[in-house]
Parts: sequence; structure tokens; C-alpha cells
Amino acid sequence: MPFDTVVIVGRGGYGAAPREELERIVSSVADSGRYRDVRYAFMEQGKPALPAVLAACVDAGSRRLLIVPALVPMDRTLRWWLPLAIRDWVGEHITDGTVEIALAPPLGDSKHLGDAVSAAAMDARNCTDIGKDPTIKDRARSWNQIPAHSHQVFLCHGPRCTLANAPKTWAYFQEKLRENELRGKQGVMTVRTSCLYPCDLGPIMVVHPDGTWYGGVDEAAVDRIVAEHLVDGEAVPEYACVPGAPARSKPGS
Ligand code: FES
Repeated sequence: MPFDTVVIVGRGGYGAAPREELERIVSSVADSGRYRDVRYAFMEQGKPALPAVLAACVDAGSRRLLIVPALVPMDRTLRWWLPLAIRDWVGEHITDGTVEIALAPPLGDSKHLGDAVSAAAMDARNCTDIGKDPTIKDRARSWNQIPAHSHQVFLCHGPRCTLANAPKTWAYFQEKLRENELRGKQGVMTVRTSCLYPCDLGPIMVVHPDGTWYGGVDEAAVDRIVAEHLVDGEAVPEYACVPGAPARSKPGS
């Protein structure tokens, strides 16, 4: 049976430009008329995230989905764990066996990629010399000042943390910071990162300057980390993980 749905997956990115790039690919695949649904998703930082798109496709009636990673190059670890991460998602969300999800080979393995790059080079033959391009702006002055934040908080948006709902945790975290007036130059600096390594404990959050690692950071964990750690200055032991300690099940569960 052919696939009814294709999900084009980009690595990550914020703002309109990465979305527009993926929308162009979606529109060419949709123009083929072979699929009833074609969408894009981001595997790590950026929205919509892959789990949300998979859930939306299944809710909209997709039953045979093909995930196509639009990544060049696709690194070795990604080739290894992306199928595992998707299998985990299916195991958690598809309990009746009515949905099949397949993963296409990496784009770089396709013999057609060279043709696409050649065509892009032909399209670019009249591009402006970079030295004369008026749209390229000088650096902002603030780029050489260290911000005086009270804390720096890193929330992993690597692929497995993203599948474990890191984008939802991030949105909730931002809301809590706003409610507690912890944003701004003297407040809490927040950064979305790529994989920080202990993926099975995700979503992972690291709070500096004290260097506390938290795992299993959901909305309940955010409530406590904001109130107890960022406001009162005490780490939350139920969610904290000790670097180098033997592996254990997800904190907070
Ligand atoms: S993806 Fe978050 S720790 Fe690996």
C-alpha cells in the first residue's frame, strides 16, 4: 500500500526563513499529487516540532506516513537514533497498530541530490557580489557586552528532548518567567540548545551559574524550578540529576 502522507523534516530554526524553505519543499512534493497530506516539521529547535506534526497527521486520518529527513549531511548519530526516537513515539502514541510510519533514507544518499544542487547553482548565476551587497548589515554594538543576567538556563531542544515535549515545556517556562517578572537584562537568560547528551532523561534543563542539571522537566517541574530555584535560590532535588552518577529512571516520575 502506498504512503498517504509525507512529513519533510528539517533540523531546526527560528523565524520565517527556515519555515519558508521547508514550505517550498512541501509545495513541490504536494504538487506531485501522490499524497493526501504533505507537511513539514522541525526535529529540534523550531516549530512545528515533529511529535506535534505526527500527532496532527494521525488525527487528520493519516495511516501510512513517510518521514523524509531534509538534512545534508545527516550525521552518524542521527542515522542511528532517529528511527529509535520515532519508534518510541509510535510505542507511546499508537496503541492499536492502525498507523505505520517509515523513515526515508538520508537525502545525501539520493542520486538526485546532485541534480538539485546543479539546478540551484544555475538559478544563482546572477547573484550580487557579497562585497557590494547593500542588504548586509554591520554588527550590532551590544554583541561585545556580557549580559548581567542572574541565571542562565539552557533547555535542550535536541531531537529526543523535542520528542519528549521540550517545546511545550519551553513555552510554559517563558510564561512562568513573565508572570514572575524574571525576564529582561537583570533576569534569567534562556537558551534552547542542541543535544546535551543524557537524552533518556529529557527534557533536560541546566541552570547556571550553579550548574544544576534537571531531567524530566515538564510543567510541574517548571513550576517548582521557577519558584524554588530561580526565585528562592534553592535547587529542586526531586528533578535534579547528579552529573556522573549511575543512570536512573526519569527524575520527577
Ligand atoms: S536530545 Fe536532549 S539531551 Fe539529547
